[in-house]
Amino acid sequence: MRNVIVTGGTRGLGLAVAGHVAAQGYRAIAVARSKSAEFSSLEERLGRNSLEFVPFDLAEVEELPNLAKQLTADFGPMYGLVNNAGIGTDGALAMMPVSRIERVVRLNTLAPIILSKYVVRRMMADGGGRIVNVASITAFTGYSGLSVYAATKSSMIGFTRSLAREVGRLGINVNAVAPGFMETEMTRQMDPKRREQIAGRSALRRFVCVEDVAKAVGYLLGENARNITGTVLTVDAGATA
Ligand SMILES: NC(=O)c1ccc[n+]([C@@H]2O[C@H](COP(=O)([O-])OP(=O)(O)OC[C@H]3O[C@@H](n4cnc5c(N)ncnc54)[C@H](OP(=O)(O)O)[C@@H]3O)[C@@H](O)[C@H]2O)c1
Repeated sequence: MRNVIVTGGTRGLGLAVAGHVAAQGYRAIAVARSKSAEFSSLEERLGRNSLEFVPFDLAEVEELPNLAKQLTADFGPMYGLVNNAGIGTDGALAMMPVSRIERVVRLNTLAPIILSKYVVRRMMADGGGRIVNVASITAFTGYSGLSVYAATKSSMIGFTRSLAREVGRLGINVNAVAPGFMETEMTRQMDPKRREQIAGRSALRRFVCVEDVAKAVGYLLGENARNITGTVLTVDAGATA
């Protein structure tokens, strides 16, 4: 069974990715701080082995080498890594405490880069693998109040393109997905008027759901995407069209 690590695989998009890849026959290994009720019910439905949970705080970046080592020791070689865990920031940069800026950069940029470093080393030794980084359309479009968050998401795109060049000859594909607005815990606080505006501006006049993006991630992990690397797949119902 091929192993796919899904960071933040217990809620929102990560949970949908974990469920989708498990249904495709992979073993999804969800890494997050705690299990959600939705994760537990998916676990009951799928049974262990195709869905595993590993408790870990990805902000503890010094511990990431140990996490990569432990995952291989417990489950065997890693085929895929989906860098999905992330936090949002909403607020004017001028008013934002530096500690908050640091927290977002640490989780959204530093943690996926360092985790990729240790996982990709093992993929190199095993002769191949797939990495999918979760960016956001805010990496291409301005959004007031999300400057720090958008900076972290743009960084994932530069990282994706360069790492793809670096490890391609070793049989490792590196891609990103850029979702538009999705209804998850991250966006729960958003003002309903603002939501309507966002949906109204998209070409298809609707939101993207987490399953749409999960299927795009599944595609990038699959055989049909064997010649796709260094690219960004936007799933936004045409919000940036
Ligand atoms: N929602 C949107 O509209 C949207 C749009 C574009 C891109 N995205 C991106 O999609 C990804 C998922 O977002 P989402 O909306 O699904 O978020 P979410 O519902 O808030 O879920 C976040 C996931 O990350 C985990 N996580 C958070 N902090 C963590 C930490 N320190 N260590 C380990 N795990 C941690 C959470 O589990 P624990 O809290 O238990 O650790 C949870 O499983 C993010 O990268 C986000 O930037 C979201």
